[in-house]
Amino acid sequence: MKDIKNICCIGAGYVGGPTMAVIALKNPNINVHVVDINAQRIAAWNDEDLSKLPVYEPGLDEVVGQCRGKNLFFSTEVNKAIDLCEMIFISVNTPTKTYGVGKGMAADLKYIELCARQIAEVATTDKIVVEKSTLPVRTAQALKSILKNTGNGVNYEILSNPEFLAEGTAVEDLMDPDRVLIGGDETPAGQEAIQALATIYGAWVKKEHILTTNVWSSELSKLTANAFLAQRVSSINALSELCEHTGADVNEVARAIGTDSRIGPKFLKSSVGFGGSCFQKDILNLVYIAKSYGLHEVADYWEQVILMNDHQKRRFAANIVKTLYNTVSGKKIAMLGWAFKKDTNDTRETAAVYVADELLNEQAALQVYDPKVPEAQVFVDLDYLNSRAAADNKNYVTVQQDPYEACKDAHAVAILTEWDEFKDYDWQRIYDHMKKPAFVFDGRNILDIPKLKAIGFTTYSIGKGNI
Ligand code: NAD
Ligand code: UGA
Repeated sequence: MKDIKNICCIGAGYVGGPTMAVIALKNPNINVHVVDINAQRIAAWNDEDLSKLPVYEPGLDEVVGQCRGKNLFFSTEVNKAIDLCEMIFISVNTPTKTYGVGKGMAADLKYIELCARQIAEVATTDKIVVEKSTLPVRTAQALKSILKNTGNGVNYEILSNPEFLAEGTAVEDLMDPDRVLIGGDETPAGQEAIQALATIYGAWVKKEHILTTNVWSSELSKLTANAFLAQRVSSINALSELCEHTGADVNEVARAIGTDSRIGPKFLKSSVGFGGSCFQKDILNLVYIAKSYGLHEVADYWEQVILMNDHQKRRFAANIVKTLYNTVSGKKIAMLGWAFKKDTNDTRETAAVYVADELLNEQAALQVYDPKVPEAQVFVDLDYLNSRAAADNKNYVTVQQDPYEACKDAHAVAILTEWDEFKDYDWQRIYDHMKKPAFVFDGRNILDIPKLKAIGFTTYSIGKGNI
């Protein structure tokens, strides 16, 4: 079997960085090179000060601190790494297409194709190429064709090894994964490549947790897993609205159904809507693939998960406007949380930006606070929506470093991210400095509503309603 001594990963993002750091930690005899064209990102991965790593994940600084400079290296020298390494992971971004055929639905594979062409151009020895990015089913076919037709006659084995980590718990998920999935060709060379990768994971993952399949099953399983997870969130969110109209409590319903071992308790937290870089993108991709095979009922079924999520974000914002006497024009509203979930600095597709957008359409003055998201990112996210001039976003939105400042003189506080620290705030102090009546809209169901009511707040909690 091929003895792997050098691995490289193209793409030093939320997946490439943490995944390679853990592989390096668990395989001290393998040199792991993480490369990226984004020099600023690489500089941040190499920063002496581990609190400045470009990805915030609990425990990541410790892992990087242990391996960096020993068997974990971050650099912009992509060609050099390709040439050196026997195994090449591709972990570049695969966003939704914003142009041409499949615009707004299909995955944009241009970054993947560029990597394949670069590998083909540079490689002079046989390589195992591992798809780590989330890709449409049958992408490996395209990679194979590019490598075969533009390469230097060297052999390539393509593996699909999708990543299942969730942000905020990436290190934990990588250290103790429910499963590692490896898809490869059924040929002897394909099986040998699968074994080479399985050996690397085998350094810390139990054999029975390493699943092997054919390439297409592996590619499709990744999209399917995200679709199922997002579907659960949309399902509970759909019920949250019904709860608000019937007096049922969504937490009680979730607990009641989650104790059924066939349903299970996870992913049943109702929220202002799921965000993140992948759920929406991957479902849209699934919908697009189904449509491209003429499977319209399949496509419509999954698309509903996204439509429900959009509805949830809109109705949360609409309820704020309605409750504040049908006008928020000129009113200060504090938004606590901007990241798409707690324990990450990632804001891609965060529900917060869509709620903010709706409120800005109503001319609210927003005061944003998030413990990990820098001010500049909030404006990047708002400007990206292209709903209004950047100058207007600047005029109507203030990003505060202190949550109490954010809430000062506000008519309402809205919880958008489930950061633990929000529960421990001095809510009496917040109340004392707000306009009256003071409203709290808990979009994450995390606050102690009876306590807030006792203070004097008028409260709304998702799935419980205005209570
Ligand atoms: P990311 O945007 O954080 O990182 C991608 C990196 O790839 C960027 O730093 C970019 O500069 C680099 N890159 C792009 N083209 C390049 C090229 N030609 N050469 C070198 N570097 C290049 O993305 P991410 O969140 O790490 O996601 C990567 C993939 O993993 C996506 O397909 C995503 O769907 C999938 N995924 C993400 C998560 C997650 O939690 N973020 C989890 C599982 C799977
Ligand atoms: C998700 C999957 O959980 C990972 O397995 C997958 O690897 C990853 O997508 C990916 O492919 O990128 P992630 O998006 O990082 O991970 O985070 P999740 O914990 O899944 O949360 C996604 C969104 O759903 C967040 O906005 C979260 O707040 C929301 N959510 C989650 C709920 O509203 N309710 C829940 O019960 C769970």
